[in-house]
Amino acid sequence: MSQLQFEPLHNLLGARVTGIDLSTELGDEDVSAIHNAMDEYSLLCFPEQEMTDEAQLAFTRRLGEPEPNHVTFGATGKIDYFATIGNVIDAENKKGSDDAHTRYQTGNNLWHSDSSFRLVPTRYSINHAYEVPGEGVITEFASQRIAYARLPAATKETIEPLHVLHDYVFSRSQTAPVDPNHAASLPPIEHRLVRTNPANGCKNYYVGSHARSIIGFSGIESRKLIDDLVDQATRSEAVYGHQWQAGDTLIWDNRCLLHRGLGYDADRWRRLMRQTRVSGDGPTLGE
Ligand SMILES: [Fe+2]
Repeated sequence: MSQLQFEPLHNLLGARVTGIDLSTELGDEDVSAIHNAMDEYSLLCFPEQEMTDEAQLAFTRRLGEPEPNHVTFGATGKIDYFATIGNVIDAENKKGSDDAHTRYQTGNNLWHSDSSFRLVPTRYSINHAYEVPGEGVITEFASQRIAYARLPAATKETIEPLHVLHDYVFSRSQTAPVDPNHAASLPPIEHRLVRTNPANGCKNYYVGSHARSIIGFSGIESRKLIDDLVDQATRSEAVYGHQWQAGDTLIWDNRCLLHRGLGYDADRWRRLMRQTRVSGDGPTLGE
């Protein structure tokens, strides 16, 4: 068993974890220590990891069922467990700010929870950073668990039974066109607004940029409530901004966190991260 050491990254969420090599085959004790830490901190950063795609997929499988990338699957029908984040083409070439793939990725600059538009949404996202821009690039994280706990009791009661439509085309078409096959593969999905972590019983609300409307609410009422919940979760003092270093492997819990990228100058810098995801246990309506 590894000698895991945890050091909080922020007073509300996140921990830096040392004493483990994620590229080796992990024992059951290490896997359950990581799950327990995720339930507590919601985000873990493992610095200075010697990662490869093969090791990342093996690590992903140790934590649960890998989730096929919806962009590749929706557009081509092929299963690929990786997404590439950034603008690197090969050792010499990169895509600039005007490239369609770069523009498409700016959708990640809105507060969101990965794959909240899927019937079975993502449990964990796992990002490994291979190349990072020289002036630092930041991903921000905020906890909807902390924000839920701070709601008045009457608001908790009001939102408890509500259901929300999450719609990928609604959110992504704000920043870039969506491939028609991809759009057709992702009809709007209904989720609970309030979710409960099955391991520790902690509740959180579950919104973000893919949350389109509340079932039974008018458009105006829907947007007011959803936007208000996002604003409450993402007040500056509640946000942890992670400045990426090459070699960082980050895992975050999409069941309760929101995140967004702050962008970078793709004309100037190279950026390369590989992402895998661990699928959730089932539809949120069955939780
Ligand atoms: Fe994301």
